[in-house]
Amino acid sequence: MTLSRQDCVGLDAADPLASVRDRFVLPAGINYLDGNSLGALPRGVAERVGTAINQEWGDGLVRSWNAAGWYESPGRIGRKLAPLLGAAPHQVTVTDTISVNLFKLLVAAVRLRPGRKTIVAEAGNFPSDNHIVDSVARLHGMTVRTVPAAEVAAAVDDDTAVAELSHINYRTAEVQDMAAVSAAIQSRGALVVWDLAHSSGAVELSLDADRADFAVGCGYKFLNGGPGAPSHVYVAERHLAGLDQPLTGWFSHAAPFQFDAAFARAEGIRAMLCSTPQMLANVAFEVALDAFDGIAMRDVQAKGRALGDLMIRLYDERLAPLDCGLVTLRDGTRRGNHVSITHAAGYQVMHTLIARGIIGDFRAPDAMRFGFAPLYVRHVDVWDAVAAVEDILRSGAWRAVPSPSAGTVT
Ligand SMILES: Cc1ncc(COP(=O)(O)O)c(C=O)c1O
Repeated sequence: MTLSRQDCVGLDAADPLASVRDRFVLPAGINYLDGNSLGALPRGVAERVGTAINQEWGDGLVRSWNAAGWYESPGRIGRKLAPLLGAAPHQVTVTDTISVNLFKLLVAAVRLRPGRKTIVAEAGNFPSDNHIVDSVARLHGMTVRTVPAAEVAAAVDDDTAVAELSHINYRTAEVQDMAAVSAAIQSRGALVVWDLAHSSGAVELSLDADRADFAVGCGYKFLNGGPGAPSHVYVAERHLAGLDQPLTGWFSHAAPFQFDAAFARAEGIRAMLCSTPQMLANVAFEVALDAFDGIAMRDVQAKGRALGDLMIRLYDERLAPLDCGLVTLRDGTRRGNHVSITHAAGYQVMHTLIARGIIGDFRAPDAMRFGFAPLYVRHVDVWDAVAAVEDILRSGAWRAVPSPSAGTVT
């Protein structure tokens, strides 16, 4: 039996997270399926940032580093975020970007495994990750072994210092078994760094129980922290004492305001900081996390999976016959919260969709990516997106869109 739009309206009526959509400011007439790239704006963020600008900065001036709690904000936000990651709070902080934090964590891991000369990395990972891996290897005279995600654990040997991979792949949405992969890597004496860019705020995570060594995640995707929101870092308790990350700025110092000439590392997760926190971004991120108040990540994950299953069912019914392909896994238990559909004219189709108010994104060479942020995406949004793709393909409306030029954000 084919699914109707009315069936999807019924699924939304039965959705236990349906009312959470009201926690977001969503523009009228827009069907937003790109929360995996830039999360939507949670209510309360604009007002909070306005207060930070007008009162804390405008009136409080430099006093706000103490009076408004700015100085303590990285650790405070980390503690607020930790439950969403399945982590005890003292192991998480918020700072810098994913790529910068990855650099810090990889070097810290290499320093914990002196003498080992290999880094294992995921082929097909987000390119920035592997660019950073290569640079860390060059700095240390190490070799990089790059293999598909499923082979990372087996590629680790007694010469491997650290392995780095995504928990959920940015293209295929394939989920790795964090507990099993971490255990296999650690059984060879190596360490693991997980990229959580497509996991934090999207699926249930258990970093402590799964015995991750290190992890880095994104603030601006499923956590809705705003464009360029700070990244978050997790360092397992057992590594905090020996943590020696390379960007030893004054905020990684035990007492920045003593202005000691000699470096003395801060205790605990604060050692992952480097510089002055970017406060307007921190303020936005901290209040954005309120959107998760009272919500179990298990329910968030279940809804994301249901939306992905729905997209794939509708793809089978309506898009597979139109020269489309499916990059994403069908098995919902091994898939994160986006579905990537390929078509030779994928870029043009996506831009025709965007012109119609249905916003996904495009990943070269041919993947149209649809993200399902479970806090605000409805079943009916998925139905409408597939109906529009079908219409655009059947009518040839995409032919009016030129191919992308270099330098375009897709
Ligand atoms: C999987 C993954 N890793 C790393 C990055 C890079 O993040 P940043 O720009 O914060 O360095 C992204 C960005 O989208 C990503 O999706």
